[in-house]
Amino acid sequence: MRHFLDINQLSTDDVASLLERASYFKYTGVYPRFDKHRLVTLFYENSTRTRVSFELAAGHLNMPVIHMDKASSSESKGETIVDTLKTLSAMGISLGIIRHSEDGLPERLAQIPGLAMQLINAGDGKHAHPSQALLDMMTIKEHKPNIHELTVAIVGNIRHSRVANSLQRLFALVGIKELRLVAPKLWLPKSVHFGRMTTCLKEGLNQADVVICLRVQHERLADDEQFDPSTYRRDYAITAQTISYAKADAMIMHPGPINRGMEIDSDVADGVQSFILQQVTNGVYMRMAMIEYLLNNP
Ligand code: CP
Repeated sequence: MRHFLDINQLSTDDVASLLERASYFKYTGVYPRFDKHRLVTLFYENSTRTRVSFELAAGHLNMPVIHMDKASSSESKGETIVDTLKTLSAMGISLGIIRHSEDGLPERLAQIPGLAMQLINAGDGKHAHPSQALLDMMTIKEHKPNIHELTVAIVGNIRHSRVANSLQRLFALVGIKELRLVAPKLWLPKSVHFGRMTTCLKEGLNQADVVICLRVQHERLADDEQFDPSTYRRDYAITAQTISYAKADAMIMHPGPINRGMEIDSDVADGVQSFILQQVTNGVYMRMAMIEYLLNNP
């Protein structure tokens, strides 16, 4: 695989191997060296977790990291993103981590003729966020290894969520028992790759093993969507009361950043069932595994 763009490029063996390598890095602290490679982070959308964890991951692998900021790059003078990539590639940068608001852009950039640089999709628009799905799977498997027996509920803005898209593909690939996609009608997608849609939170969370709460993405709401925060909170917020619909030991997860008091309450986000910070920790190791996987398969 030359570029890491989405989960649909992976086989079940690939996923197993990535999970195994990420755990190996986490529990042994033994890391390979990729010091002949250079990594650039190109984030055209804001990020805390994804960008910093890719940069930390590269550091653990002894790869020098360059962060390109659009505002201070020559794109502010009219250079195209294609020319930026070709320029960085010509300098010998071997791996580019790209986040962009445009659906499918990393895939189109991956087709630049003769581009030597390999690319990892760090989230494109509403389309895909493969590293988030993989680190979520790592976190789930650490605590509930019987993946095939799990019922997972994803709650929130499914229609606009690249995380939900990549998770659907990954859960279908590894074969969980059931996936429920819970959202108000406004945020249900027109079609799904995997899972059953419901507008009822109680039904969606009923006896779930894992609850993945999505952020209310104010920046992705189209102007014509009449989003009412108080109605959303009333019907879909993950609270101490609503998590009681799920199993007593259900894992509560969130890709972050979280809107406390909107889609999730602080006592749940910081509570004993929350795995939100473990997701963040695992992100570093999973991204190390992804970088290694890609550089070993040029
Ligand atoms: N989950 C996620 O992508 O977080 P960031 O936007 O902080 O990278």
